Amino acid sequence: MGRVEGSIKISPLLITLSHISDLRPRISSIRAEGKSVALVPTMGFLHEGHLSLIRKAKDECDIVIVSIFVNPTQFAPHEDLEKYPRDISGDSERASGAGCDMLFIPSITEMYPDGFSSTVSVNGLSSVLEGEFRPTHFQGVTTVVLKLINIVQPTVAYFGQKDAQQSVVIKKMVNDLNVPVTIVIVPTMREQDGLAMSSRNVYLDPVQRKDAVVLSRSLDLAKSRIVEGVRDPQKIIAEMKELILSTGPATIDYVEIVDADLLKKKDTLIRGESVLIPLAVRFGSTRLIDNIIVTV
Ligand code: PAJ
Repeated sequence: MGRVEGSIKISPLLITLSHISDLRPRISSIRAEGKSVALVPTMGFLHEGHLSLIRKAKDECDIVIVSIFVNPTQFAPHEDLEKYPRDISGDSERASGAGCDMLFIPSITEMYPDGFSSTVSVNGLSSVLEGEFRPTHFQGVTTVVLKLINIVQPTVAYFGQKDAQQSVVIKKMVNDLNVPVTIVIVPTMREQDGLAMSSRNVYLDPVQRKDAVVLSRSLDLAKSRIVEGVRDPQKIIAEMKELILSTGPATIDYVEIVDADLLKKKDTLIRGESVLIPLAVRFGSTRLIDNIIVTV
């Protein structure tokens, strides 16, 4: 049986902390022993995608710290902050099983005390693709991720390819600001039918869940077209959109083919280069994103 903290049952194997002042000295002594520290930032409701980051972190580092914080500043007022799924006791069991040594679950006031007034923005990269539809999103992400990195001071921080643009933006921030951490990007974990795992998949009704498989199918289609020699991005994008819209009621926010680092739209595909194909599609009120990287 787990330890009970408030009304939440927490895995007995896991050290669970919610105060920065408790976390810092523990990490200092771990670092003083010469051990490497991994940080896996999450918003909780952990699934196999999150667990793959934790497992990789455990393979590569001595101590793995997973943060769970549903960061309000990366949600716009009309978005799903209030209904974002939460399951701290399940998360603690799953994280522990995957090799997490310490959970950091700060409150909103711990992260953003009264009078908090600083932000970090990665200009340019934050305003394209997702940024066109969620203009304040990446500033919220980069600010909280830099805070988490500064709080934990990890050797390595792990992020998922599932959120391709987030990974690009965070790598740019770390590089621009000389943040002393290595960023590792972990491949996207998918359900058996190809749907990228996401905490938001629980919002889908059974019909939408079936329809949503079209996202990974459209990415497979794009890859096949590139392998077949199609070099016009617009032709590929049009085919992807047609496939997505032919499946069922869906609203496409974007489907693009962009440079994998600079996120610039491609006019043509050049042999040998890697391109990112990101998309965002809404099924009812549920907005899903997915992507692949293809080497032409
Ligand atoms: P969250 O959506 O909980 O995701 C936490 C990490 O898990 C991110 O790096 C994300 O890319 C990765 N991830 C999610 N689904 C995945 C999948 N199917 N396969 C592989 N990795 C996956 O992303 C966030 O939280 C937040 O923006 C955060 C970085 C924690 C800042 O608040």
